[in-house]
Amino acid sequence: MKDRPRRLRANALIRGLVRETEISARHLVQPFFVRPGKNLRKPIKSMPGNFQLSVDQLVKDAKKTRDAGVPAVILFGIPDRKDAAATSGTDPDGIIPTAVKALKDRAPGLLVITDVCLCEYTDHGHCGLVSHGRIDNDASLPVLAKMAVAHAEAGADIVAPSDMMDGRVGAIREALDQSGFAETPILSYAAKYASAFYGPFRDAAESPPKFGDRSTYQMDPANVLEALREVELDLAEGADMVMVKPALPYLDVIRRVKEKFGRPTAAYCVSGEYSMVKAAAANGWIDEKRAALEILTSIRRAGADLIVTYWATETAAWLER
Ligand code: PBG
Repeated sequence: MKDRPRRLRANALIRGLVRETEISARHLVQPFFVRPGKNLRKPIKSMPGNFQLSVDQLVKDAKKTRDAGVPAVILFGIPDRKDAAATSGTDPDGIIPTAVKALKDRAPGLLVITDVCLCEYTDHGHCGLVSHGRIDNDASLPVLAKMAVAHAEAGADIVAPSDMMDGRVGAIREALDQSGFAETPILSYAAKYASAFYGPFRDAAESPPKFGDRSTYQMDPANVLEALREVELDLAEGADMVMVKPALPYLDVIRRVKEKFGRPTAAYCVSGEYSMVKAAAANGWIDEKRAALEILTSIRRAGADLIVTYWATETAAWLER
């Protein structure tokens, strides 16, 4: 037989020689949840292995992440107070600026990315301000911009807006530029879908919407042309990197975005993607390490440059062998 693809599968060495897709720690971003307090390490039930951490504990864990070879973390804040105006989210002494300063100070050599969104800071839990029972897009923009500037002032290396308000990348870019942060990159959650896979995260960040859902701002899972349009708009407004989220149910979207724009493309392997594997593994139904590496490889194969994943630190250790 002339063609025998199995010839190149005979052993691990030859398989490695012809492997098309690499996954390495260099591409990974580890998310962390941070809240006020001291010596706090509160397990997140729906996301085994993840915790709400006080800043001192965050510094500890972030150092481990860095020492494992993961270059970046992304921070989500759980403030001690929430109100209609998301005031705690724009406070220069709020939880995220405090955490960023601590990391820059005590865990050097790590890129610190911050999530920019109102849902963690609003009492109603929506990603924008609410007026007359509706999400007020344009009123939310200056608040998001102020939050991004507060993060940059604290030393954030990259800001990552995840709110899905129209025009927020432009508003944030302008505010950063005017405040002396022309060189701070924006990683925009450009194609963020209204997904059931965020379920476990809402426990982690304590940010579920108190009324309605997010489908007037997050995207319809059925749409891919709309994702391309969202990416195009964000790039035109000044996004440096674009993200598709979730990852696994949207591999085709990652592929289309990468092929059409050829720009640095991120994928967020979200809480539900992580927790369903964890739950199956806890039952002995699936091998967590193999499943996780297969998922992350598929996301890279689809075209993602960087991957935000709750497995980042563990993956770095797995890859070391
Ligand atoms: C909103 C935000 C969410 C996630 C990241 N940023 C939740 C949401 O949109 O409801 C989800 C991440 C995950 O599920 O891992 N600030």
